[in-house]
Amino acid sequence: MEMSNTLESEVRYYCRVFPDVFVKAEGSHIYSESGRAFLDFFSGAGSLNYGHNNPSIHKAVMYYLKENGIICALDMNTEVKLKFMNEFNETILGPRGLECKFQFPGPTGTNAIEAAIKLSRKITGRKNIFAFFGSFHGMTLGSLSATSSLRYREASGATLHDVTFMPFPEGFMSTFDTIKYMEEVLTDSHSGIEKPAAVLLETVQAEGGVNAAPFEWLVKLRDLCTRHEIIMICDDIQVGCGRTGKFFSFEHSGIKPDIIALSKSISGLGLPLSMLLIRKDLDAWSPGDHSGTFRSNALSLTGALAALEIWKDPGFEKSIGKKSEKVESFLSESFKSMSPRVEIRGLGMIRGVSISGNDGPEIAAKIASRCYDNGLILERAGRRSEVVKLLPSLIIDDDDLYRGLNIIKQAVIEFA
Ligand SMILES: Cc1ncc(COP(=O)(O)O)c(C=O)c1O
Repeated sequence: MEMSNTLESEVRYYCRVFPDVFVKAEGSHIYSESGRAFLDFFSGAGSLNYGHNNPSIHKAVMYYLKENGIICALDMNTEVKLKFMNEFNETILGPRGLECKFQFPGPTGTNAIEAAIKLSRKITGRKNIFAFFGSFHGMTLGSLSATSSLRYREASGATLHDVTFMPFPEGFMSTFDTIKYMEEVLTDSHSGIEKPAAVLLETVQAEGGVNAAPFEWLVKLRDLCTRHEIIMICDDIQVGCGRTGKFFSFEHSGIKPDIIALSKSISGLGLPLSMLLIRKDLDAWSPGDHSGTFRSNALSLTGALAALEIWKDPGFEKSIGKKSEKVESFLSESFKSMSPRVEIRGLGMIRGVSISGNDGPEIAAKIASRCYDNGLILERAGRRSEVVKLLPSLIIDDDDLYRGLNIIKQAVIEFA
């Protein structure tokens, strides 16, 4: 820890929140140098939906390395890239009626968002983007311009522009007709707000505090985008790849976005990879318009290809549904009548325990810290970090799931 304090920039964050040195990880457990075992409800901020070092994905990646498979090839055609696109088409897109082109931008989530914003502007010739109150889309300047946190925006030291924030249907805006408002903004020639190229959306705002948009709201938003010829971008970076119970988070509402951004769990093993799925007729890029050295990294794609095998078993999606029900009923039974200050949110296997009131953030911090002391890793989210966020792996067994839930319950009882 002392070495980290001396050598690493003050910008470091998670090493302050989880003050141990970690060496090993398997399934839902991570192990520190000192020999402590932690149960992981953080899952690399949503990058480890299949658990740490999932055996079948790990095996495929190890084999690829052993055979000297090409690793860095930018977007040259590698065998694994072609196989992945083909398999993804057959396993994920086809059955869901989606016809898309693949784009592999640089390897992190923010690269995918940058590309989606640029492409939408290129297609429509418009500059503005609608993003939402409470949104989080990444830290590079384009994505940050669509990220609502004033603190993060200020840290850019630059003018972030060409984005207009619209109200998201949660919290104090949950009773406000946000769709009607957008409709008025778009049709009133004196709204002062330019028609956007795209609406950039998280169906469940994860960093924003686990705010799930109502399904009927998503349907209305899709309709609004279609009628006004605005591109709908779904940022499924944190809540895609099965996190909400279906491969894509928007499937629950039956809508189809025009562009989908994926990263985090897409590589299966936590290796860096991101991609855009672009509705076929919207692929307006010219060769080389958007590049990135580490795009379509072959080792990450090897993991991603192996992860698709898991989705071939129809029992997998059902098993996420069953686990989600267990989490939901545990949380509602534990906290429903406990205190009006404790609110449960979320969808599928992303859940939030929100503590309202002025001291909500302080209490949430105490809860997270007590969980850590008791061997459970999780993080906080929300405007004031007042929400304890639960992201267990999708393959966690019942014993570990209930053990983690009970650690949270005890901490909430103690402090809230
Ligand atoms: C919804 C969402 N979009 C974009 C990003 C940015 O991804 P990255 O940190 O890999 O750039 C994140 C990261 O947490 C995210 O949750």
